[in-house]
Amino acid sequence: MSSNRHGIIEKNVGLLAILIVVAITFGAMAEILPLIFQKQVNEPVENLRPYTALEMEGRDVYIRDGCHVCHSQMIRPFRAETERYGHYSVAGESVWEHPFLWGSKRTGPDLARVGGRYSDEWHRVHLINPRDVVPESNMPGFPWLETNVLSGELSSKKLALFRDNFGVPYTDEDIANASKDVKGKTEMDALIAYLQSLGHAMK
Ligand code: HEC
Repeated sequence: MSSNRHGIIEKNVGLLAILIVVAITFGAMAEILPLIFQKQVNEPVENLRPYTALEMEGRDVYIRDGCHVCHSQMIRPFRAETERYGHYSVAGESVWEHPFLWGSKRTGPDLARVGGRYSDEWHRVHLINPRDVVPESNMPGFPWLETNVLSGELSSKKLALFRDNFGVPYTDEDIANASKDVKGKTEMDALIAYLQSLGHAMK
């Protein structure tokens, strides 16, 4: 008898389609709903601090110049990865990342924990012409970063936006000083400050 009733569904494409959608919806809810309420994925890890105004500008340069197209910022929990890059990435490190830059394309190495691995000067030389420090590198040079000077015009607005929309704990003072902290620095200074901050919360 019961197999006959199942036959009704199998022979009725409309009903089948609706029930498939219902089944998939249940599956998706079971995956997604617990995540929304899990502290582990929506609260910052203990040592996470917001980006400084200069680091925030550096992050924007990173996005504009497409660094994320060749570099991921997501260390997976596999031995081959953790031995090379350090502790695997956890969700609590990314709660203030908008948009997040995890990526999946790795033409170059993962950068999630590159902060502190090299000196500022190494980064400067490397970003102007990677082959000066890594002869076999096929990463492009970004020499204009050294001459592009930041006006800081939007820096306060950027921090305010992250505070008001994403709950990043910037103080009024951080926001008031943002433009001043950035003005006159080069894009190179900003990008290096950003790179040096990567992974700070899990060191
Ligand atoms: C076309 C792909 C490509 C792009 C775009 C690119 N990189 Fe790279 N990057 C590489 C490759 C390949 C390496 C490995 C060789 C080397 O160290 O130069 C690398 C290495 C690095 C390293 C050293 C990482 C380590 O752990 O040794 C840093 C830091 C870095 N890139 C930053 C950047 C930044 C910042 C940008 C954007 C301004 C950028 N890259 C854009 C391909 C790329």
